[in-house]
Amino acid sequence: MTNKVRKAVFPVGGLGARFLPATKAMPKEMLPVVDKPLIQYAVEEARAAGIEEFIFVTGRGKSSIEDHFDHSVQLDRVLRERGRDQEADELRSWVPEPGQVAYTRQQEPLGLGHAVWCARHLIGDEPFAVLLADDLVQAATPCLSQMTAAYEGTGGMLAAVMEVPESAVSRYGIIDPNGRDGALVDIKGVVEKPRPEKAPSNLAVIGRYILMPEVFEFLGRKERGAGGEIQLTDALAWMIGKVPFHAFLFEGRRFDCGDKVGYLAANYAYAMARDDLRENLLLAIRDIGDGQ
Ligand code: UTP
Repeated sequence: MTNKVRKAVFPVGGLGARFLPATKAMPKEMLPVVDKPLIQYAVEEARAAGIEEFIFVTGRGKSSIEDHFDHSVQLDRVLRERGRDQEADELRSWVPEPGQVAYTRQQEPLGLGHAVWCARHLIGDEPFAVLLADDLVQAATPCLSQMTAAYEGTGGMLAAVMEVPESAVSRYGIIDPNGRDGALVDIKGVVEKPRPEKAPSNLAVIGRYILMPEVFEFLGRKERGAGGEIQLTDALAWMIGKVPFHAFLFEGRRFDCGDKVGYLAANYAYAMARDDLRENLLLAIRDIGDGQ
């Protein structure tokens, strides 16, 4: 029997410098894909996977995320006065219940590993999921649901991975595989941002994890890794051999929305998936031509 994954951590403490000036006064995680902020996709994915507690690791300038996951009494009233009850109901439907959501501050953006460590008291002694909102996964079955289903068989830790071109390995944590069974890959090592000639594979870790609380022991040492940051990847490497740990080849298309092209591609893909937008979008794009 594995312990159910009930809690999810959303690290949203990063600077989002690649998206300046948009992120000067607005969190990167609030950037919309079509009409929904990135962070809402992540929270909805977590809820679909059975997550009951939503823990945000925030930083300065991120308070609009708290407002987003709260009821807006005024907006609710105005919409209802105008007969737009359906929209008002829809806006209420995805807001977590009081007590289901918690915020803690990272204080300094020292890296993803540090952000996860900041949630340790809220996690306690149980497995938990980590979702990076800027990794958006479009999939028939949401990525975290695929992972929690696999976790019921494996227990231990899981990191979602995808194949990337050799030229891209230096942008990711790359796993050293030890044999594969369907979507599950046994891990014997993981390295953060290796040079292509040093990469043990082309399997890149993306921002979906199921972790065991033992990772906090390593993260608490606050060792600096690649780029001088406290890296989650180093904690993953340290966990190998201590608990079952698999890479999971998810089904779906992942967009790196922390990158401009990835973000624009996500907007296109999500708009094209919508019956109310597809036709007019195609007309608009045809109109623009090649953009010259
Ligand atoms: P990124 O590596 O994309 O960094 O973080 P970033 O700071 O957000 O963006 P750039 O590179 O400056 O443009 C991946 C995820 O980890 C979180 C980010 O908020 C993002 O969701 N993160 C990163 C933290 O919460 N704290 C950190 O110290 C670093």
